[in-house]
Amino acid sequence: MGADPCRNSEARADLGMGSLHRCGCMGDVLCGPPEFAQTPTYRKISEAQAGPEKGAALGADLYRTSCASCHQNNGQGVPNVFPPLAGNPVVTAADPTEHVKVVLFGKKGGLINGVAYRAEMPAWADQLSDEEVEAVINHERTSWGNNAPTVTAEEVGRIRRR
Ligand code: HEC
Repeated sequence: MGADPCRNSEARADLGMGSLHRCGCMGDVLCGPPEFAQTPTYRKISEAQAGPEKGAALGADLYRTSCASCHQNNGQGVPNVFPPLAGNPVVTAADPTEHVKVVLFGKKGGLINGVAYRAEMPAWADQLSDEEVEAVINHERTSWGNNAPTVTAEEVGRIRRR
């Protein structure tokens, strides 16, 4: 049996009915009576904790359903038809602005690594929410060997409204 983190660690934050404990190997643990799980405070914190993982699952899912038909599951695209996103300069750029713009508003007639693609990149602004664009972009920025800074839904919203 592992030690109960709620008994064996100190509370970092008093949340009224319950409390938030920091436990070395488990990170933050929410402690309190069963009713505590029904409170808005509990839900807000546990959702925030689930955030990155939930976003990653959503991103992978959206990529598979909306993007992989052209860019392929392995992010390699199809030579001279659909550009690769693995190692792509827009996808790996530290500044994600261009990445967000292409996904929201589409692109055609561009030159990517010296290749002109005849097919068009569709615009997704009408189909994907800021959160969905965030998730799929971050999937591309962190897959297939890409390791670029990620974007937030707030930044996507700002670029959408520009
Ligand atoms: C119908 C095929 C198709 C689908 C579906 C598609 N793309 Fe594209 N995408 C393209 C083409 C073609 C280009 C290149 C356009 C050009 O250069 O003119 C492109 C370009 C891009 C680029 C820009 C690369 C660069 O270097 O400028 C990104 C990023 C991108 N797509 C992401 C996505 C994401 C994210 C999705 C899913 C939400 C998606 N694409 C779905 C065809 C597609």
